[in-house]
Amino acid sequence: MQKRDVTFESLNIVKLLKDKKPKRVLFVCLGNICRSPAAQGVLQHIVDTHGASSDWEIDSAGTYGGHAGDLPDRRMRVHAQRRGYDLTHRSRRVRESDFDDFDLIIAMDKSNERNLHDMAPSVEAEAKIVPMIEFVNISTRYDHVPDPYYEGAEGFELVLDLLENGCANLYDMLTDGKN
Ligand code: 4NP
Repeated sequence: MQKRDVTFESLNIVKLLKDKKPKRVLFVCLGNICRSPAAQGVLQHIVDTHGASSDWEIDSAGTYGGHAGDLPDRRMRVHAQRRGYDLTHRSRRVRESDFDDFDLIIAMDKSNERNLHDMAPSVEAEAKIVPMIEFVNISTRYDHVPDPYYEGAEGFELVLDLLENGCANLYDMLTDGKN
């Protein structure tokens, strides 16, 4: 287990968003039924707890559209619910307009990141793409947020551990700990 260095101070895109309202964040994974809707729910919960929901627009999407219209995977909903997150997002595929509609596009793994770069319509759009793991500073052997779909309960718990830590750091980074 290696403790990750906190590298997000070097993410210029994040620094630029500090004074912007609303801050528009899109989380992206493959199916948009496990990792990205969980990230959306976790960050929304943090924002709501700070009474800052009007300053944020948070959504999620998948690079694969095969689950479009579906609720998050039942296993992810159960594990998230145990931690107090009610996941009600309906899956949708990433679309080109997302690169205009969001300031920050956060990819769960390298494959999602590559697909987003392939889709991005401009260099400016590509600069919005950031790996989720960059915000994580708890000990982990992963350099990405691993896909839990073919895993057991531990896979879903691990994803939630990574997302809770990463979203808390993302929130602090984008607000300086303020609203
Ligand atoms: P997600 O997980 O990308 O975290 O939503 C997956 C969901 C569905 C599939 C793969 C990963 N799938 O192959 O259908």
